[in-house]
Amino acid sequence: MPFVLKLRVGVLVSHNGSNLREVHRASLVPGARFEVAAVISNNSGSRGLAYARENRIPARHLSGRTHPDPDELDEAIRATLMQESVDLVVTAGYMRKLGPRTRGQFVSRIINVHPALLPRHGGSGMFGEHVHRAVLAAGDRVSGATIHLVDGEYDTGEVIAQLEVPVLPGDTVEVLGRRVLEAEHRLLPMVVQQIAIGQRP
Ligand code: GAR
Repeated sequence: MPFVLKLRVGVLVSHNGSNLREVHRASLVPGARFEVAAVISNNSGSRGLAYARENRIPARHLSGRTHPDPDELDEAIRATLMQESVDLVVTAGYMRKLGPRTRGQFVSRIINVHPALLPRHGGSGMFGEHVHRAVLAAGDRVSGATIHLVDGEYDTGEVIAQLEVPVLPGDTVEVLGRRVLEAEHRLLPMVVQQIAIGQRP
């Protein structure tokens, strides 16, 4: 077997971490060309952080509690990702903006997963169930998952992949949210693998 260098992925999470779990599981499948090299969470009690520790992935809690100064927090995040030789940063349910140091270090190498079809239903305040509520209120017939590059604003970076799901009559925020999350779980590992093999979608 030739030795194959794998893309080293750093994942940032805030709460549940189901996208982290799916990316990690996909990294263990034969043929995967990436590995989860680091997990960072702003929430010391997040399930994502616990999952990382259970799976012996280098994991750190970095937040306004550990670093009250935003610039020092940004630097700690950047330095942690660099220490673990991260090639690609994935924000997956990370409810914070990344600072300029981290963005500057990883230009065009930070992707985010968003639970709607951007540019619809993005921006400040558009996260989690707020997004699905907005989709239902707008009467949209389709929603889905978006993977996009991260810039300095919320949800405005270049879209690199989307997967649609239908919005069905009678859908609630919870039901639609589950359907979209399943789409995220299919799309995100696929996009990471494509980036790893040099075929960015
Ligand atoms: C996901 O649906 C993700 O798209 C969303 O939070 C959820 C995190 O789930 N992110 C946003 O809304 C950011 N705008 P997870 O923690 O189980 O991966």
